[in-house]
Amino acid sequence: MAEGISLLATTKAERYAEVMPQLVALVEGEPDLIANLANVTAVLRACLPIASWIGFYITRADELVLGPFQGNVACVRIAFGRGVCGTAAAERRTLIVPDVEQFPGHIACDAGSKSEIVVPIEVGGKVVAVLDLDSYELAAFDDTDATWLVKVAALAARFSW
Ligand code: SME
Repeated sequence: MAEGISLLATTKAERYAEVMPQLVALVEGEPDLIANLANVTAVLRACLPIASWIGFYITRADELVLGPFQGNVACVRIAFGRGVCGTAAAERRTLIVPDVEQFPGHIACDAGSKSEIVVPIEVGGKVVAVLDLDSYELAAFDDTDATWLVKVAALAARFSW
């Protein structure tokens, strides 16, 4: 049976460093994609109280479809190239958006969201999903988040897509 995540560190970088091995252990040996994605969102929620929404959008044909998440009800379908998620997927790069109102085409699933980070997950050169985090605070995410969430995305790329 799974046990809770231990989280004693105080700084964000230390918190990521503390939960990452626990996350690896949690998904290790589990072949089910949805179960693993769901647990990733739960671990990140414990690690990042500043995030209001944490979840995956999974590539289906030429659009992204809502996957496992933690937070409020969210938009279900996002076209490639649209919004922060669709742009990150189309351009295959991590996007840090300190103020979503300054991002042309931002999709406001939750009117309270002020900042966002989206990290693509690539398998064999194709974006299979994006990991999306939102916050009610401006500039909640920075290069530390990008560095660690890219590691989380690399771990997720090893799941059974
Ligand atoms: N804001 C995102 C849409 C997804 S929600 O934040 C959960 C975007 O612009 O792509």
